[in-house]
Amino acid sequence: MKKYQRLAQQIIDQIELGVWQPGDRLPSLREQCASGEISFMTVSHAYQTLESQGVIVARPQSGYYVAPRLAATPRTPAPQVIRNETVDINTYIFDVLQASCDASVMPFGSAFPDPRLFPLAQLNRSLANVSKTATAMSVIDNLPPGNEALRHAIARRYAQQGMNVSPDEIVITAGALEALNLSLQAVTEPGDWVIVENPCFYGALQALERLRLKALSVATTPEHGIDLAALEQALNDYPVKACWLMTNSQNPLGFTLSPEKKAQLVALLTRHNVVLIEDDVYSELYYGREKPLPALAWDTQRQVLHCSSFSKCLVAGFRIGWVAAGRHARRIQQLQLMSTLSTSSPMQLALVDYLASRRYDNYLRRLRRELAQRKQLAWQSLCRHLPPEVKIHRSESGYFLWIELPEGHDASLLSERALQHKISIAPGKMFTTDRLYDSYFRFNASWAWGDREEQAVKTLGTLIQQL
Ligand SMILES: Cc1ncc(COP(=O)(O)O)c(C=O)c1O
Repeated sequence: MKKYQRLAQQIIDQIELGVWQPGDRLPSLREQCASGEISFMTVSHAYQTLESQGVIVARPQSGYYVAPRLAATPRTPAPQVIRNETVDINTYIFDVLQASCDASVMPFGSAFPDPRLFPLAQLNRSLANVSKTATAMSVIDNLPPGNEALRHAIARRYAQQGMNVSPDEIVITAGALEALNLSLQAVTEPGDWVIVENPCFYGALQALERLRLKALSVATTPEHGIDLAALEQALNDYPVKACWLMTNSQNPLGFTLSPEKKAQLVALLTRHNVVLIEDDVYSELYYGREKPLPALAWDTQRQVLHCSSFSKCLVAGFRIGWVAAGRHARRIQQLQLMSTLSTSSPMQLALVDYLASRRYDNYLRRLRRELAQRKQLAWQSLCRHLPPEVKIHRSESGYFLWIELPEGHDASLLSERALQHKISIAPGKMFTTDRLYDSYFRFNASWAWGDREEQAVKTLGTLIQQL
């Protein structure tokens, strides 16, 4: 171990022992040199290493501080399962989203990644190519279950990960949201109990509200994901019909479940004969070496409906998603025929054209690298400007940060005040049926980092202090 690595490890050990608390200022470079009789370069190298690992943060003209995300804030433990006979959240979600739908607003609350990351020139070329060759028959060719070549391309991506999904089981939809909604509708009747995570993607709660389903919200944390013991309790206590959750890069918390936990989850739901509606829209946005498998990979009894889309990783505006629906594929097509009829055919054809160019994987590699860098920059900026008591949960995928204000602070109020300064955030209240996450918010870190972003984070810091 080199000298600077030894020093970095020493500091990590001291933080773990509680010698240094989150928010504490570390000895300056000069003080550290004097106390350990080590060179300035060694200390500087050690501090930079710790900073890049997110253990400490630099504050300009002030020094190095222990990162707030390591804070162990004691909180009232969340109830394991919360039941709601009715879900009533859509009006609130609509109002929050409407209020931030303004191009002059800094979109930290947005769910979409920065569209400038997408390969728009190539996609436009593909659209132009297909518009030259599309015939009157293309509409008919692309009716449910959707374009055959596109379903084959998606099936081949499952095959790359060792999953056997037939193109005949895939239904092309208007984004993942339609896939998820149709899946839920296909396996439930109004009044049925459905399990969701707490907190969860608000689209799940809106779907429950629309279909008049009852919610069982199961405790879920950024560190461990869904609590399987609580899930089992809910399955024992209620006649549950379906479970809607995310196993990769969960929105809003960011975690990815371990392969062991995914296997346990599928086994548990299978034992209780409960369908899993798996929302996997962020699966391409991992930072590690390998794309994580979905829970679908452990499904031997065809209990999983796997939903995803191109909206978060290639193009949001095309509105193309899909569900690998297994034995439910026919029912889902019937429901689609009654609602949207079919997905736009030029968009399906353009995606077929783009995917055939084989550029997709190279582009995805660049996208993942860029997102990881942007998230790191956003995180460093937040650490610089938010008060040290604020805890920032950061995951190794996607582009969201989950931010925890000190207990009692109201993130909805922060959101209202931030909007007056043309900054949006996504308050925790959007992701739950109760008050548990009132002091949290989700932060979109996909934007290229510049002065405007830095200033906006600084303003957020001031607003939090004023709370
Ligand atoms: C977790 C999650 N699932 C599904 C969707 C909807 O995806 P799409 O835009 O493909 O309909 C979103 C969009 O924000 C999301 O965040």
